[in-house]
Amino acid sequence: MTLLQVADLTVRHHGPHGPVTAVDGVSLEIPAGRTLGLVGESGSGKSSLARALVGLSPVHSGRVLLDGRAAGGRTLRARRRLGRRVQVVFQDPDTALDPRMTVRQTLAEAATAFRRLDRPARAERVAGLLDLVGLDPQLAGRLPRQLSGGQRQRVAIARALAVEPALLIADEITSALDVSVQAAVLNTIRDLQRRLGLAMLFIGHNLPAVCHVSDAVAVMYRGRIVESAPTADLLRAPRHPYTRALLAAVPGLPPAPPPPDAAPLPLAAAEAAAPAGGCRFAALCPVGPARHAERTVCTERDPQPGAAERPHRAACHFPPDPDTPGPFRPGPDTPEDERS
Ligand SMILES: Nc1ncnc2c1ncn2[C@@H]1O[C@H](COP(=O)(O)OP(=O)(O)O)[C@@H](O)[C@H]1O
Ligand SMILES: [Mg+2]
Repeated sequence: MTLLQVADLTVRHHGPHGPVTAVDGVSLEIPAGRTLGLVGESGSGKSSLARALVGLSPVHSGRVLLDGRAAGGRTLRARRRLGRRVQVVFQDPDTALDPRMTVRQTLAEAATAFRRLDRPARAERVAGLLDLVGLDPQLAGRLPRQLSGGQRQRVAIARALAVEPALLIADEITSALDVSVQAAVLNTIRDLQRRLGLAMLFIGHNLPAVCHVSDAVAVMYRGRIVESAPTADLLRAPRHPYTRALLAAVPGLPPAPPPPDAAPLPLAAAEAAAPAGGCRFAALCPVGPARHAERTVCTERDPQPGAAERPHRAACHFPPDPDTPGPFRPGPDTPEDERS
């Protein structure tokens, strides 16, 4: 059974300038034991989506089903059930860990959140968790400030795993770490997937890193999923021009404008950024009307992800022919971060 099903989810924040639609009609699925990567630049709505899944962002409309049942619910019971099944690790472990608690205390507290463990069982569980995330048992007595950034993030991961969740949401968990440490943490993630059969939503802005740990990848752009596919297919034949741009890391690609209702842009600029009903990428798109004047459909009609092409879907009126090589040439199979 599909562990997580998200259907037509819209998340709307109440910002200082009015409502901000951070997630706009997103649908996705994560089967048990599988990892979906979610990639997109800063501000595309990744964290809003992740947080909505655990009740931390305001869901405006749409459905979230966990184990086939509605995941929402404000009752204590509903929240506990959600907390037991889904755990989140965020980018910044400093804010996530209690600075006054040792690693041992943090992990023991989490391990006993949903079940009773006697003293020896608790100690054994803490040792097992440290081992899972590749931390030296000697570190159990330390406080967060006595650990490195990478070690702190491993503690945060271990704490999330302590409740044995079915789904782990990892939101930019390596983004604040040094490159060499990132690689090691990514390898730990792969190890956890194998050992625990854990399902994950792995969020990041670095496409190779996300692909490295994901069975399938969804590409997010300004609140929408513009392309989703099994990882190998996405790398071999990316269909959305935005995905191709990400893969090619085109140096000149300007950052995306904020969502249309995020800031009081001058009207003309707002319209250019988000043509009413059109594709959000149109103004910047290399295959869109900026280069091909006759392609007015891009600014007139919102492209829908092609249901017929499942599991590889791209929301584009003029998806590049998958057989013509894009700007991206897949290199040898091993991403850079395989080194450690
Ligand atoms: N609590 C909030 N209040 C108002 N606006 C928010 C809030 N959180 C996020 N946003 C806005 O929603 C959009 C998406 O942000 P976010 O989900 O953090 O994206 P990402 O994680 O991809 O960087 C941005 O325009 C951001 O400014
Ligand atoms: Mg974020």
